[in-house]
Amino acid sequence: MTDGNRQVVFASRPSGWVGEENFSLHSAAIPEPGPGEMLVRNIYMSVDPYMRGMMVDRPSYAAPLRPGDVLSCRVVGQVVASNNPDYGAGDFVFGMLRWEEYSIAKGDEDLRKVDPDLAPLSWNLGVLGAPGLTAWVGMMELGRPKAGEQVFVSAASGAVGQVAGQLARLRGCRVVGSAGSDDKVAFIRRECGYDDGFNYRRAASFETALASHCPDGIDVYFDNVGGTMLDAVLLQANDHARLIECGMISQYNLQQPDGIHNLALFARKRLTMRGFIVRDHYELLPKYLSDMAAWLKSGEVKYREDMVRGLEQAPAAFIRMLKGENFGKQVVQIADDPTEGS
Ligand SMILES: NC(=O)c1ccc[n+]([C@@H]2O[C@H](COP(=O)([O-])OP(=O)(O)OC[C@H]3O[C@@H](n4cnc5c(N)ncnc54)[C@H](OP(=O)(O)O)[C@@H]3O)[C@@H](O)[C@H]2O)c1
Repeated sequence: MTDGNRQVVFASRPSGWVGEENFSLHSAAIPEPGPGEMLVRNIYMSVDPYMRGMMVDRPSYAAPLRPGDVLSCRVVGQVVASNNPDYGAGDFVFGMLRWEEYSIAKGDEDLRKVDPDLAPLSWNLGVLGAPGLTAWVGMMELGRPKAGEQVFVSAASGAVGQVAGQLARLRGCRVVGSAGSDDKVAFIRRECGYDDGFNYRRAASFETALASHCPDGIDVYFDNVGGTMLDAVLLQANDHARLIECGMISQYNLQQPDGIHNLALFARKRLTMRGFIVRDHYELLPKYLSDMAAWLKSGEVKYREDMVRGLEQAPAAFIRMLKGENFGKQVVQIADDPTEGS
């Protein structure tokens, strides 16, 4: 086939903050699908915090990248040509493909068809995809908040956080969130129905902010950031509180992680801390999707994404997300979406 498949390659390992110099843009031939394979035109791709972990050369649940690799990511695209009996040309699909304009899919990349009539295609990378399921697993399966309990969510306007808080609100909890700008705090309060929120970047201290915004303590903490916020939550936690460790984005670009100083409170307050990885819970996706699609349709759950356009913008979009410059789920549109406006 003709040349013209632009790809983003992992050029070098960052030490400390990741920068655009750690990526390079290449062009390759558009590949031909082999037996059982299909060619997918990638329309939307996701940039996610876990990719920062893949840039470090250490064993993890996602295999480390090697310099020269085309990066992998979740993609929503359209099948252009198929030698796979389960998929036909024109089908819209979601899968773990690559930072490139065209990918070969074999069908085993968590590939599934997506229904373009259910919601905008890009939402399959956010509220109807792994971030939404992450919020569901962490909040509902592990945190198990009860009506009337006090719930606190950090990075509350992000892809996972905005869903996690709304799930707790639907459960009848009092929900408080922290986010990195006044606009984000207004969004979680006015759109997502959080009871309260604060801009942690303007807080004199996290301890006093939590004491004032969570006056009845915290029963469930949905932790997206770790670090000093986690330490402060331990002080404000109620007896028997559950700390759900979803992620620790404040630590991902540090060469020396923050220490946690209030661990002695675990025994005194009988706290539980539980970490999880969403991919261990993918069997819950069909049930989650059916519930969430209904909530989105009825307007009970709101969703915000932050779209940038152009594959060449993907490294900058990834970095701005890590810095908190995204407002909602960060997505990159790579190609025209034929369902847009329909
Ligand atoms: N366990 C799992 O399976 C799983 C799956 C998906 C995601 N995660 C984790 O969930 C968390 C959120 O991921 P996401 O995809 O929803 O990203 P996101 O929240 O949409 O974007 C990242 C956000 O993190 C916040 N942030 C960045 N640096 C920060 C800092 N130093 N202190 C506090 N907040 C900071 C920023 O929001 P502000 O402007 O509010 O600071 C930024 O917008 C991450 O920790 C991620 O690793 C875990």
